[in-house]
Amino acid sequence: MRYKVSIIGAGNVGAEAARYLLYKDLADIVLIDIVEGIARGKALDLAQASQIIGFSGKIKGSNNYEDIADSDVVIITAGVPRKPGMSRDDLIEVNFKIIKDISEKIKIYAKNSIVIVVTNPLDAMTYAAYKILGFERERVIGQAGVLDSSRLAYFVSQKLNVLPYEVQGLVLGTHGDDMVPLVRYTTVNGISITKLLSESDIDEIVNKTKYAGGEIVQIMGTSAFFAPGDAAGYMAEIIIKDIKKLISASVYTKGEYKLNDVVIGLPIVLGKNGIEKIVELDLDEREMELLNNCAKHIKELQLVVDRFLS
Ligand code: APR
Repeated sequence: MRYKVSIIGAGNVGAEAARYLLYKDLADIVLIDIVEGIARGKALDLAQASQIIGFSGKIKGSNNYEDIADSDVVIITAGVPRKPGMSRDDLIEVNFKIIKDISEKIKIYAKNSIVIVVTNPLDAMTYAAYKILGFERERVIGQAGVLDSSRLAYFVSQKLNVLPYEVQGLVLGTHGDDMVPLVRYTTVNGISITKLLSESDIDEIVNKTKYAGGEIVQIMGTSAFFAPGDAAGYMAEIIIKDIKKLISASVYTKGEYKLNDVVIGLPIVLGKNGIEKIVELDLDEREMELLNNCAKHIKELQLVVDRFLS
């Protein structure tokens, strides 16, 4: 059976997510954008690479939401990215309106899909989508943990001179400066980096991970898109192939880690049903305090979303 993935927002992140799916020949792809020409043009361009890449599916671009019907996965990347000097939170008002519009359409045209949210501020936008969609929480998932964990793994690999994919990183909490890179649970071939690196090296890696996105915005003038797009594509791959992989992702909590009614990055098992399980790790006092700080911050943003929703 051929799967179908729709990507809403054919900008930088959306196009890279599409490229990931195309290169791995994972699904038929629909690109939707408010600017019809962007979606249609990029879809045509990508389709014309099918022969080179060995893509055997269909790819279509449009601004018509009827085209997302029967999607297995919908990835939302539409929205405004950061400019230098902006925090992700600064985008809340403008991106909320976009998420609202799109979630209402998904509810009509792709009500059985699993939705992956990428738009920032990530946790608050995932909360907004969850509330508007009315889907069970297992099918509304925020992409941040895969990206932040990959960034963490990359910085560890550079410090230890090992290959990035030999490192398993785990970042919880919010997709922002107060994210929680769990160094105790970050390993190289099963060995915790706390046994391999000095405290100061680990502090440096943690800081680099937190500001990795901001550094790219400063350098490039807009936010990152290759790694974020690939992270979203990878989550779609895990769902389609039912890999049941333990990753970090933003989820709506119902008592896990003693957190309620907050969308926050936690370890989950991802599979064909979306969130198959939320994994409760044994966190120490400091880690729990950092996670609670994130929850407090996200709840403040959720209150803003609640005001917009009322
Ligand atoms: N419906 C559909 N598409 C929309 C809508 C809408 N209501 N509003 C905006 N778009 C489209 C834009 O036309 C644009 O093509 O979303 C796309 C966004 O693309 P970029 O501006 O290139 O932004 P990008 O870098 O892809 O980031 C998108 O992902 O990582 C986050 O912070 C980032 O919130 C931002 C989002």
